[in-house]
Amino acid sequence: MRIDIITVLPELLKSPFEASILRRAIDKGLVEVYTHNLRDYASDNYRTIDDYQFGGGAGMVMMIEPIDRCISKLKTEREYDEVIYMTPDGNTLNQKISNQLSLAENIIILCGHYKGVDQRVRDRFITREISIGDYVLSGGELGAAVLCDSIIRLIPGVLNDETSALTDSFQDNLLAPPVYTRPAEYKGWKVPGVLLSGNFPEIEKWREEQAYLRTRERRPDLLDE
Ligand code: ADE
Repeated sequence: MRIDIITVLPELLKSPFEASILRRAIDKGLVEVYTHNLRDYASDNYRTIDDYQFGGGAGMVMMIEPIDRCISKLKTEREYDEVIYMTPDGNTLNQKISNQLSLAENIIILCGHYKGVDQRVRDRFITREISIGDYVLSGGELGAAVLCDSIIRLIPGVLNDETSALTDSFQDNLLAPPVYTRPAEYKGWKVPGVLLSGNFPEIEKWREEQAYLRTRERRPDLLDE
């Protein structure tokens, strides 16, 4: 998979890809992530990418021209499955969306700033608009990093134990059950006996029950879906 991120703050997108699972996925050649500084596509010497909004009002709007230039250049080089815009008024990211996007070959992610982008960008270029939650960030970059993390870990070969993504919370619309590790007893606090029993059908049954109970208690909305 190849991910091209268009941003006015490329430095904000460096560190998420320099450590841990994402770093390993890149090193293994399973994903390529490129950031593009939108200012490189401005047409004036000031590298302007935003302007006042028509009709008046506070806040700047990201201009269509630099975005068009950047997206159009990328599209001459390869085909893209999706051009995603990160915005608080997009569809809220969930595991289903991440699963779908993890199957894509090439995606572009456009990070919004200020009051957002000229609506014509959204109408003409964007195939999907994603929010990472009902709160407003200073820009789309951190949302883009969250989105990339959730997608990249689903690409086959990225996680060492392939099954571990399958047992994540939200796969099957259930939260994950509780987990424990050594010691089996700490300050008198014991691990549930079934997990030490070696009886794998029983363990599996216990985990399913716990996942269900936890979901019913914390996220009953998932069970309705
Ligand atoms: N940009 C600003 N807030 C955002 C959010 N909640 N999700 C995605 N992009 C954003």
